Amino acid sequence: MSVQPLRLGIVGTRGNGAKLLADAVPLVPDLLTIAATCDVVQDAKFEGRCAQWQCRGFRDIDTMLAQAGSDIDILHVATPSGMHLEPILAGLKAGKHVLSDKPLDVTVARMRLALGAAQESAGRLFVVSQNRWLPGMQLAAAALKKQRLSKLCRITVISPWNRGDDYYHGSWRGKWATDGGAAMINQTIHPVDLATNFAALALGVERNWDMIELLGGVILQVAHQPEVLEADDVSHMHFKLSGGAEVDVVAMTAAKPERKWTIAVEGWDDDGFIVDADGRLLRWEFNQPGDEDAEARKLGPIASASTGGASDPLGVGSAAHAEMLRALIPAIWNDRPFELEGAQGAFAGLLIRQFYENARDPMGLRPDNFKA
Ligand SMILES: NC(=O)c1ccc[n+]([C@@H]2O[C@H](COP(=O)([O-])OP(=O)(O)OC[C@H]3O[C@@H](n4cnc5c(N)ncnc54)[C@H](O)[C@@H]3O)[C@@H](O)[C@H]2O)c1
Repeated sequence: MSVQPLRLGIVGTRGNGAKLLADAVPLVPDLLTIAATCDVVQDAKFEGRCAQWQCRGFRDIDTMLAQAGSDIDILHVATPSGMHLEPILAGLKAGKHVLSDKPLDVTVARMRLALGAAQESAGRLFVVSQNRWLPGMQLAAAALKKQRLSKLCRITVISPWNRGDDYYHGSWRGKWATDGGAAMINQTIHPVDLATNFAALALGVERNWDMIELLGGVILQVAHQPEVLEADDVSHMHFKLSGGAEVDVVAMTAAKPERKWTIAVEGWDDDGFIVDADGRLLRWEFNQPGDEDAEARKLGPIASASTGGASDPLGVGSAAHAEMLRALIPAIWNDRPFELEGAQGAFAGLLIRQFYENARDPMGLRPDNFKA
């Protein structure tokens, strides 16, 4: 087992995706250091981040791998979502581990190319989903793993984010080609990842895709100008799980500011829990006492200034990223499985892309059916 910190190369220096992960690195100095970064835009922000991270900066991934490749063990891909595949392929080809930010990419075909390349590489491919390491999520996952829920009945995700026209204007965000959608794939992918992980734990399935029987929903655009937002600012995805339970997901970037997303998990015996974007437990009821209960009571609905990113893109903070790294890096050192690897890590993105494909081709209402 190596006990040397892994050395990180960050692809896409200037955005919030890169910043949130980089801010977690000083919290785990024994596990990870930043060795290099690259960005196609070399401005003051780029220079500032290189200085802050005390690392070398390059104009593109090929130059970075050619000149600093021997100093890099793992890449964080933080380019716009529809530009993840190319750096992932370059990193895996060079035998590096790759931590792609969410989603893995923006089409099923591109995500599958990345997953296929990982099969051929000495490097491993992971997808960021840091919210799994919020305290309430860890407790909820532990309770479900122990089968404390009577029988999974329903999971409801309400994800009321707020983004103005300026967030989408002139940006890759909210465009089908570069974001793969909008509210559901960019923001609500976080609670979708959590909800599907909860469902898999409750049902005891190892591969998430084995538990879904039916998938449907609608995509709408209600608040933003069509010139700036091509995809959904309100959408509704629902699916049926094997065993009969239902999962319902409402995604918005058209909500009032300062609201937090919630995930409600309900069992047949009126047991279950509700957890929010800060990992606070708004409900925690199981029919038998368990080891998680004392800690869960401490994570009650105490007022918090954070919005979990609902109205401020940096509102998510980096503490959960640090916890994710505390789980990920030892798994790499010890060649152990990691829960966000390969198709399991990409699952929420793959599911959402299939939802969009279905919902963009709806059957429609037939007016004739209402006539006598
Ligand atoms: N996990 C989270 O909570 C979280 C939060 C924010 C963003 N993200 C993810 O991070 C990714 C980036 O989002 P963002 O908001 O930071 O975007 P951004 O547009 O603000 O930043 C992306 C950066 O990548 C650079 N870039 C573009 N193409 C490049 C290339 N080929 N090589 C190198 N650099 C390139 C851009 O110049 C820019 O500096 C997205 O996939 C997003 O979903 C995740």
